[in-house]
Amino acid sequence: MGRIEELKLELKNLGREYAKIKTLEGPERKAFGEKLNAKKSELLQKIKEAEDSAESESLESLDLTAPFSENAPKFEFKKGTKHPLSTELDLVAKIYREMGFSVIEACQLDDEFHMFDSLNFPKEHPARDGYDTFRTEEGFIPPAHTSTMQYRALTRFKSDLEKYGQIAVVVPGRVFRNEDVDATHEHTFYQCEGVFVSKTANLGQLLAVWKNFFETYYGQSLNIKTQPGFFPFTEPSLEFQIEKPSALGGKGDGWLEMGGCGMIHPNVLKTAGIDPEVYKGFAWGGGIDRLVMLKYGINDVRYFESGKLEFLKEF
Ligand code: DAH
Repeated sequence: MGRIEELKLELKNLGREYAKIKTLEGPERKAFGEKLNAKKSELLQKIKEAEDSAESESLESLDLTAPFSENAPKFEFKKGTKHPLSTELDLVAKIYREMGFSVIEACQLDDEFHMFDSLNFPKEHPARDGYDTFRTEEGFIPPAHTSTMQYRALTRFKSDLEKYGQIAVVVPGRVFRNEDVDATHEHTFYQCEGVFVSKTANLGQLLAVWKNFFETYYGQSLNIKTQPGFFPFTEPSLEFQIEKPSALGGKGDGWLEMGGCGMIHPNVLKTAGIDPEVYKGFAWGGGIDRLVMLKYGINDVRYFESGKLEFLKEF
């Protein structure tokens, strides 16, 4: 029996002594009672001291150089969960990988060349202002869309054109815009970009690829719709919509704007050293946060970056 248990047993036995008080009278009774109370306080004090020192001993025996598992049993661990956006970004990458795409991660700090010049934005053109970009004092740009990765994807995978006859890459990434923040707008959010190049790439393939992605993500077949759009880096450019999935309460009458796409502009291919007379390409890009919000019925985009545990614990 350990020291603490011994003391506790002694305290328990002392408790029984109190019954004897009834058999005594007058001063004897008072003296006996006082003796018991004094003994009880003494025991309680000793127990407290023994417990305190046991606790500090167990802390002293924590060997910080020991393997993690040595110390682990002394603490109660609560395992966290993956952030819902990380889980969904992994899923997005998996779907594209299974379709044959390579996956590379976007930069979180970029520059004028990748944000605008390489994407065929004319110098001083007002379209450059349309992206509400942040800028660092040194002139760097936190990317306002994942399209900043198009030049890198094209140049890095250019040798695939000779080897496999095509470039097929998707780029999930974090993007930043100087926007007024509300339930549907965040200054920091996620997009996924796709780039495909081959001698015969065409709009039909583009629509099939993106449609297939959404159908796999939402686990059902979906109608799609496109509208003409404008982006300096694609010609023609399209806005891409999907029918609101019935699994999420859509009744075939609601359309959701999922992003932009189009045939890669010849100037973008040329800048990346790919001959637009020989090769064609298509590109597409859209938000991830929105996709996830729809899937889980999240009604405020600000939850994602809030770090709120009540929100995160739901996943
Ligand atoms: N980067 C555009 C945006 O954030 C979306 C986009 C449009 C991406 C056309 C593309 C594209 O790859 O071809 O608004």
